[in-house]
This record gives sequence, C-alpha cells and structure tokens, in this order.
Amino acid sequence: MNKINVAIIGVGSFTKALVEGVAFYTKHPKENRGLINPKIGNYRIQDINFVAAFDVDERKVNKKLHEAISAKPNVTLKICDPLKYDAVVHRGPTLDGIIDQMRKSFVHESNAPVVDIVNILKKSKADIVVNFVPSGGEQATYVYAEAALEAHCSFINCIPTPLATIPEWRKKFTNNGLVLLGDDIKSQLGATMLNRFLLELLKMRGINVSKSEQENRGGNADHFNLLYRAKSKEKSKREALTHFLEKGDAEPSVKFFYTGKPSGHKLVNIKIEGEIFGRVPISIISVIEDEISINGAGVVVDAIRIAKLLVNRGKQKDTWKVCSFLMKAPPKQMSDSQANAEFRKFLLSL
Ligand SMILES: NC(=O)c1ccc[n+]([C@@H]2O[C@H](COP(=O)([O-])OP(=O)(O)OC[C@H]3O[C@@H](n4cnc5c(N)ncnc54)[C@H](O)[C@@H]3O)[C@@H](O)[C@H]2O)c1
Repeated sequence: MNKINVAIIGVGSFTKALVEGVAFYTKHPKENRGLINPKIGNYRIQDINFVAAFDVDERKVNKKLHEAISAKPNVTLKICDPLKYDAVVHRGPTLDGIIDQMRKSFVHESNAPVVDIVNILKKSKADIVVNFVPSGGEQATYVYAEAALEAHCSFINCIPTPLATIPEWRKKFTNNGLVLLGDDIKSQLGATMLNRFLLELLKMRGINVSKSEQENRGGNADHFNLLYRAKSKEKSKREALTHFLEKGDAEPSVKFFYTGKPSGHKLVNIKIEGEIFGRVPISIISVIEDEISINGAGVVVDAIRIAKLLVNRGKQKDTWKVCSFLMKAPPKQMSDSQANAEFRKFLLSL
C-alpha cells in the first residue's frame, strides 16, 4: 500500500499534535488505543507521510517541518519526538491569515518571498492538502484551495470558513477526480459533540430546552484569535446544535475565552436547563478538560485516510457520506450516532 502524501497549510499547534501523533503510532505499530479507526481501508496511521508545509511565521518558514512544529507560539502536550521529514515549511501568502492583534504577540511575519504554491504541491507529489490556517482566514483558504485544485490535490478544510458547504467548490473538486472534505473538523470527543448528545437526549425524553450554554476556555493562539474572529466558529458550532432543537427551545449560546496562559489545555463548561413532567426544572452541568489540538488530530488522521481511499476507489461523489462523521459543518447535518452509522456502512461498502 502506498503512502499518503500530505501537505499542511499552517504549522500551528494542531499540526504539532498531528505530526507527533503520527510518529507515536508509527513507533508503536501494535498500539491501537486512542484511535477511532486503526484501519481505514488498508490504510494505517503510519501510511501518512508529510511532504510539504506552508506558513507565514519567520520562526517556522524555511525550517524542516519536524523542527518547525516546536517553534513558538505552538503549545500542546508533547506526545513524542516527531519523525524526521525532508518536508520544508515554505513561505505562503499571508492574505487574511493573520490579524493585527496576532502580529504583535503571536505571529512574527516572515520577510521571505512568497513561494509558488502550485509548483511546490506538484513537486512534492502531495495527494492531500490539509488546511489549518487561523479561523477567519477566508481569502487564504480560497487561495490554497484553488492551488490544490490546480496541483491535482484533494483538500481537507479543518477550519470553519465555508468551503465544503458550498456546492460549487465541491463540484470543482469532484469534477477533477478529487475530494473536498469540510468544514471545521470535529474533535475526537469535544464540546460540540457532548453538547449535541445532551440536547438530543433531552429531546428524546420529551424535555424542552430553556437554556443551552457552552463556554470554551483555552490559552493557545487559536483561542486568542477567536477573541476577534469567532463569527464563523460560533456559527459552525451553533448550527451543529440547533439541528436537534424544536420550535420553542432556547437558542444555544457558544462563547470563547482566552486565559492568557500559554497552554494546549482547554476547559469546556456546558450548562443545559429544561422542564420535565409538571414543568418542573432540570439542569445538567458538564465539564470537559482536554488537550484541544490533540483531540482534533485524532480525527484528522481519519479524514486524511478516507480522502485518499475515496479517490482510489473512484467514490468522489460519495464524499458527503463521510463528512458528517468528520466535520462540525458538513454538507449534510446529522446526529453523531447517525453520522457514525453512515460512515461505518460506507466503509464496509468500499
Ligand atoms: N481541535 C482543534 O484544535 C480545532 C478544531 C477545529 C478547528 N480548528 C481550527 O484549526 C486551525 C488551526 O488551529 P491551531 O491551533 O493550529 O492554530 P494556530 O494559530 O496555532 O496555527 C495557525 C498557523 O497558521 C499560520 N498561518 C497564518 N496565516 C497563514 C497563511 N496565510 N498561510 C499559511 N499559514 C498561515 C500561523 O502562522 C500559524 O502557524 C484554526 O483555524 C482552528 O480554529 C482547531
């Protein structure tokens, strides 16, 4: 089985978690704990091969990928030493990737000349491009997605900028024999999923929802960025929740807070209130503590392998069947249980 050649856009904390996670399962090939799917088709985690990367920060540009992932301000709990790759981090176009507030404290913009993305993707023989630019980077996402198309690469949009939810974009990829997976990658077990399960449970038990509040607190660059650019993220998270609600239920609220302490640790508080029999109140309070980037990387390793398999098997038109399992804002919303069942059924049919 051939390797899956992956190019990364945005060498931030998420990429650090992904590269270290791939190293962990490659060094421990018999270890399946922590994986949602040890195998997808015949692909295992160790078949993921990083061949190129793009960033705009001088502390990362022109470094080898396995070195750049440890540059500041990246912050996650270290899983293990990364594997060594020849892949270099190239200077990508900045566009709307960074906001002014980030320039001062989080991103030191590189003076290096911007590279030809298409040329590098072609030379590196990338099969798949994975987008990890900061939330709100719309122009950047669209420019990289166009470049991926031109270089004949599939594209995984891990950020909430609408791309895979736009039918024209999906068609562009499918018509070229490629796949576009998106938008906004789910965590292996994150706030949206738990919040959705709780709301679904209330609805299943005939309970109206009078309050649904989700607070996300973190100290990494993504949480700082979200202070200023949470619009698309909040929309993606809120829409994932409203899917379960009925007329008369309270609108869910989703908030982000930046702790000011550099850390990959995230604290989520979810509070749901409703009325049971006799209109008597009930409330549920849940807390998740996790390493946010690592939680997301556990799903990206599945997205990469399924994207390659869809192309190998000529099933590009079936991409929507797997997006609901992988993404918070897929072309077709469904409950996590339905999405899981659809995903498993599809894998068996391949
Ligand atoms: N579990 C999760 O962490 C999770 C889940 C869903 C979505 N996301 C999204 O994934 C993205 C990445 O998260 P992160 O924690 O790694 O963020 P991060 O801020 O640590 O990393 C973003 C990287 O992108 C680089 N960048 C900025 N503009 C660029 C451009 N134009 N071209 C190339 N690189 C550029 C930055 O220099 C930085 O290295 C965010 O948009 C986040 O919202 C994360």
